[in-house]
Amino acid sequence: MLVSRVYHPHQGSQIFARAAFMVHGIRFASMNKSKTNKEIFEPLPREELVTKFKSKLRDREFTPGSTQGGFPEFLAEPRDSLPLGVRVHNPNQASLAQLTAKCMEFMEENHSQCPAILFRGLPARTANDFSTIAGNIPGKPLSYEVGGSTYRKQVDKSVKTYTASDDPLEVTMDTHNEMSYLNTWPKKLFFYSVKEADDNCGGETPLVKNSELLSKLDPEVVAKFEEKGVRYVRYLRDKSHDEYMNWQHMFGTEDKKEAERRAKGKGYHLSWNETQDLRLWQNRPVSIQHPQTGNKIWFNQIAAMHSSYYQIMPTFIGKGIPDDECPSNTYYGDGSPIEPEVIQHIRATTWSCAVGFQWRAGDLLALDNLAVQHGRIGYSGERKVLAYLTC
Ligand SMILES: [Fe+2]
Repeated sequence: MLVSRVYHPHQGSQIFARAAFMVHGIRFASMNKSKTNKEIFEPLPREELVTKFKSKLRDREFTPGSTQGGFPEFLAEPRDSLPLGVRVHNPNQASLAQLTAKCMEFMEENHSQCPAILFRGLPARTANDFSTIAGNIPGKPLSYEVGGSTYRKQVDKSVKTYTASDDPLEVTMDTHNEMSYLNTWPKKLFFYSVKEADDNCGGETPLVKNSELLSKLDPEVVAKFEEKGVRYVRYLRDKSHDEYMNWQHMFGTEDKKEAERRAKGKGYHLSWNETQDLRLWQNRPVSIQHPQTGNKIWFNQIAAMHSSYYQIMPTFIGKGIPDDECPSNTYYGDGSPIEPEVIQHIRATTWSCAVGFQWRAGDLLALDNLAVQHGRIGYSGERKVLAYLTC
């Protein structure tokens, strides 16, 4: 039996546990399977997941809602296996493709207990390596050419890897479930670090369990949204007068008819105005049932797609762009505005559930997109994270 160093949160110190692979009392399925898996996967010591410096949240610049009350002072450290850190060994000199297949097996067996798994130690460092990883992840890749909600670039057209976001680097992005504003969304979401931010420079990928968030939200707020739903409105300018979130970029086409086809395929209603700007809207539920766990989960982008996100961006400040001409905005499903205090409550509660972890180059983060939200802490300097989605 493998003897692993496991952090015990209640004793506050490292203990040795005679467990094949147990973290916080959870026995991980792959460890029961074969000797090979025991040789490949090992729990990552908690201290390797903790950043040296805690990122400030309260009164943080370019962070929507941070000055308006209720935010925790700092982004919390990883806890309760969020994320579950796993070191990947390669005793038999397997290829990256073969190791990826093993990681995916491990992920499938453990995601219902641990919906965020960080694999460290894969023989991978470059964007090309991520293409190899992505090419060996089961499931159909999902393209952002269905109307993503942030500015990004495609990295590898053949396997559909992207930069995670190219929104201004100093901006903190609210946590969210990827594409939960559409009628279909990725089930799994993979992030890969090419270059981590320097110490004390931000850049964490905050994680939030949807089930925990739902349990902490004001039930009256949840009930009102469940009754009315949420309306997502997009305002995508023509690229002739907006390089940032124009409809050509968002739908990956220059053809209006093709953009319309892609938008309608995702459930949007649409209209064009006289300057060839495209307005899109659709109503969605705010919570769904997780197909595997059966849990009701808070699954939406009410805060992340609210116009207040754009209004704090350096590129928007002082321009006087009305809320209904921001790239996105959210309303109650009947079209009425969401009270600012409700947006603030959602944001503050979400950040109170969020944890951050230490990225290292070559890390692969595998998320159950229905169970876990992700975001981005604003940063300075260099940092590069890529993304790949499967449905
Ligand atoms: Fe995202």
